[in-house]
Amino acid sequence: EYEKKIETLLNEMTLEEKIGQMTQFGRCKEKEIQLIREGRIGSLLNVSGAEKINEFQRIAVEESRIGIPLLIGDDVIHGYKTIFPIPLAEACSWDPELVQSTAEVAAKEAITEGIRWIFAPMVDICRDPRWGRIAEGSGEDTYLGSRLAEARIIGFQSLDESKYPRTAACPKHFAAYGWAEGGRDYNTTDLSERVLRETILPPFKSAIEAGASTIMSAFNDLNGIPASGNYYLLTQILKKDWQFNGFVVSDWKSVEELIPHGFANDGKDAAEKGLKAGVDMDMHSGVYIENLKNIINENPELLKLINESVRRILRVKYWLGLFDNPYVDESMSKEVFLSNVHISKAREAARKSIVLLKNKDNILPLDKNIKRVTVIGPLADDKVNPLGCWACKGNPKTVVTVLDAIKSSLSLNTKITFVKGCEINKEIPNGVKEAIKASQNSDIIIAVLGESAAMSGENHNRAYLGLPKPQQDLIHAIKANTTTPIVTILMNGRPLVIPWLAENVEAIVEAWHLGIQSGNAICDVLFGNYNPSGKLPVTFPRAEGQIPIYYNHKNTGRPNFKKYIDIEETPLYPFGYGLSYNIYKYSNLKLSKKIIKPNESLKVWVDVTNTGNMPGEEIVQLYIRDLVSNYTRPIKELKGFTKVSFQPGETKTIQFTLTAKELSILDKNYNLAVEPGEFYVWVGPNSQEGLKQNFFIK
Ligand code: IFM
Repeated sequence: EYEKKIETLLNEMTLEEKIGQMTQFGRCKEKEIQLIREGRIGSLLNVSGAEKINEFQRIAVEESRIGIPLLIGDDVIHGYKTIFPIPLAEACSWDPELVQSTAEVAAKEAITEGIRWIFAPMVDICRDPRWGRIAEGSGEDTYLGSRLAEARIIGFQSLDESKYPRTAACPKHFAAYGWAEGGRDYNTTDLSERVLRETILPPFKSAIEAGASTIMSAFNDLNGIPASGNYYLLTQILKKDWQFNGFVVSDWKSVEELIPHGFANDGKDAAEKGLKAGVDMDMHSGVYIENLKNIINENPELLKLINESVRRILRVKYWLGLFDNPYVDESMSKEVFLSNVHISKAREAARKSIVLLKNKDNILPLDKNIKRVTVIGPLADDKVNPLGCWACKGNPKTVVTVLDAIKSSLSLNTKITFVKGCEINKEIPNGVKEAIKASQNSDIIIAVLGESAAMSGENHNRAYLGLPKPQQDLIHAIKANTTTPIVTILMNGRPLVIPWLAENVEAIVEAWHLGIQSGNAICDVLFGNYNPSGKLPVTFPRAEGQIPIYYNHKNTGRPNFKKYIDIEETPLYPFGYGLSYNIYKYSNLKLSKKIIKPNESLKVWVDVTNTGNMPGEEIVQLYIRDLVSNYTRPIKELKGFTKVSFQPGETKTIQFTLTAKELSILDKNYNLAVEPGEFYVWVGPNSQEGLKQNFFIK
């Protein structure tokens, strides 16, 4: 519907103005304001404040010759002012509806400041917890990652249009950025076409099918060609094969970085390579604005690529309604920011993101009438770090700490003692001694330990994944000097290597960086107001040396040989794992047929019973294995999941449907095809347990 208008506009635009639409800057000072006036900047990021953004828009619309509104983007990764759990934590909910609803809240808040483009979701599959950006994704699995990618796109892009202007999402980083060798951010990725297409690309494809209107190209090189100069990825696969008609923005200076990659000689060469590859908008490097005009003058043939990029960018601007109303209502934010509805959504999301890893002798939930509680650990009264990485507009003042929440959960009859013991990564003089003393006269120790927000996120990779040393010293000393049971709350941005904790403390609550409602959500779980339901979207290794370790590995020709001589092969906690205060019993696994035809669907039923005495939710997981194939297949692949709520004693029959889509694999031309043969199907509580049956496709 906008195509005609776009063509008219394109005919009126000068080459400079076209290049302007392809140019984005991450600041807006005098120089950039002048460029906006000249129609030579089409987009900004890292600018905030409704009033300021309206003024930039006014200059673009009223003072520039061509009058095209700006597109303002920002990293709204897990909330804007209302900060939700980091995406990896939220993935533990296995709850697309929840994830959609938090994305909606994030978009509503961001829009009120004039942000109409959200650089999320990060849909990079990652199997290396050393990589700091694992915090921003949905973990190791393609199927789960794809479902959550769709949900987040819908959440960001489908607000009630009678109340809110549209926002564009930007799945990132296309592609294979999460595969960085050694978990070192920005590093090389080298992977087979099959892994790329089977494991890495599907969440992007799902995001685009869900309507994503833009996509961000990655920093890394992929099989020898940097992603931001990669024609095969950006043009062949994305724009041609998938028929994506939105636009591609580079990552921050990633077109200019074609130079240090050793892929371009200089800015001009980089700009030409970025353009030819299919990067429609250059983020912040300036190589387009500085070089594209000369490039076109020397090679007018390339003008068609410029026109195509501008067409794509204008299409998104029209779709967003920016031409009809480029301004934001400056009064809107007051009602929207941190509203009660948003805060309770943050609490709901946070408690659904918690994973109970250990609960010896059902020590949790704690009795609210407990007499003496000792709280230790550097994260117990911390208001900054629970926000997690990329909490850009988050405010530590809005964070409820664990200590605050424990105090408000318990009556005045409980004696609560808090001794920090150490800082996140530093000893406190006498800290351990005082913590031991406080712990000895107590009925329970609640140790709140983990990583700072800055220990994960962009370019914050770690080689050692244990708790920082001062915290290890603290918790070891407490264990050695008291017999008081220890409940450990972990706050972290990645899977940690915690075999000692798994062995030595009574309970482990994996709380990640949960956002503003951290303390309340954790206490909801600690004191039984909420029955934990989260399950891991990523494997926890026993040691760094096991990395990469993930559930859907291949069988190999020697499956029974030991993988290492010095450590068990199993992970510490597998993908899909998480405890509840209930035990859910699985029985009666049934299939609609034993033999199906290649295009037929199979129904799978299982009975699940809540044998516990609390209401609760269970994430029921379905895995398959294709036993013999033209291409070796993983020993298990997630192909379905559902979160079901139960009353005490209740049994429910859960139904899954496996269609050709779930049962197919990529054939030799990388098209989806169902292969005949025998399959296993499991339905269970995690990737290592479950009831099993076989069936055949003939
Ligand atoms: O959106 C981010 C991206 O994920 C990493 N580099 C910077 C971009 C803009 O802030």
